[in-house]
Amino acid sequence: MAIEWKNQFATHDSHIDEQHQQIFRFANKLEALAQQEDVDTREVDHLLSFLETYIANHFRYEEACMLKRRCPVAQKNRSEHLEFKAFFARNVQDYRHHGYSKAWALQLFSKIEHWLSHHICHVDAELRHHPEKASTPSPR
Ligand SMILES: [Fe+2]
Repeated sequence: MAIEWKNQFATHDSHIDEQHQQIFRFANKLEALAQQEDVDTREVDHLLSFLETYIANHFRYEEACMLKRRCPVAQKNRSEHLEFKAFFARNVQDYRHHGYSKAWALQLFSKIEHWLSHHICHVDAELRHHPEKASTPSPR
């Protein structure tokens, strides 16, 4: 089942929420691919490299936001991101070594889905309590 956006995922930062929704859309593409009988592995390659780059950029952006807003979960966020990147890289490596299989795609999708919903609700959502402060005019 595709990952659906829920209110509990909202960080109330429009950029971060949009980036999370984009990751959901691409994760859902992976699930849709897994349902096909004949999979064009060029599509899998494209999707994996897009996800890897997009997620890395998103993590960098979000980590900078948390540091800037002195969010207490900034370190935890960074270390969970590192774990996710290592997990994702291992799965890409498995695919390179063993080739594509429906089972591989479905388990990758299900792990991404599980990780995302848990991480966004328990770590990223902390940003709600640390909104960006309106910039104060510099003193003359
Ligand atoms: Fe995060």
